[in-house]
Amino acid sequence: MLYVLKHPLITHKLTQMRKSTTGTKDFRQNLDEIAGLMAYEITRDIPLKNVSIETPVTAMETFEVSKDIILVPILRAGLGMVNGISNLVPTVKIAHVGLYRDEETLEPHTYFAKYPKNMDQAICLIVDPMLATGGSAIEAINLIKKQGATDIKLVCLVGAPEGVNAVEKVHSDVDIYLAALDEKLNDKGYIVPGLGDAGDRIFGTK
Ligand code: PRP
Ligand code: URA
Repeated sequence: MLYVLKHPLITHKLTQMRKSTTGTKDFRQNLDEIAGLMAYEITRDIPLKNVSIETPVTAMETFEVSKDIILVPILRAGLGMVNGISNLVPTVKIAHVGLYRDEETLEPHTYFAKYPKNMDQAICLIVDPMLATGGSAIEAINLIKKQGATDIKLVCLVGAPEGVNAVEKVHSDVDIYLAALDEKLNDKGYIVPGLGDAGDRIFGTK
């Protein structure tokens, strides 16, 4: 299922990121803030368990989150979404999946992978600002499914219809969350209108 999270603050911040005049500092800050806002929406339905606690006044029955949350940033650009989400959910564990997209073939290549334990018990949030052809997201989902993950959500800022369709075709069990669904890909595999190369804009590498 695809969810496009339409909130005025998300839209406003994404507009700042899209502007070609926005520099690295503001690009990173807006990404951080949007990631936090998206996480707030996405975690609306996470399961709770009953707990008995003592307040300073009395005993009470209340609730706590019952499942671990594991963030899975796709390196490099996904790293730009980690702080915003971990500020909201400080107990997250973090897996790292290093993938780069070959500029000619647009095929993803894996160069790093490191996972926490018990991925099969956790809610896994794969984060990456861009969902273009969908190749990187599909590969990241393949990798964490091999680690036993079953409860997987894909969280991206900007998606192209091509990427959404590709992920839905291969991994129909994974919900996709976007801040915006853009128009299309261009002949270089960039999202139109998009925001350019997210990794380069986050890390100032171009
Ligand atoms: C970008 C982006 C995604 C991928 C999306 O990463 O952050 O991971 O491309 O494209 P796809 O949907 O066609 O696979 P890139 O490979 O440029 O690496 P980087 O994050 O290190 O810049
Ligand atoms: N990766 C990016 O960083 N931007 C795009 O538009 C497509 C893939």
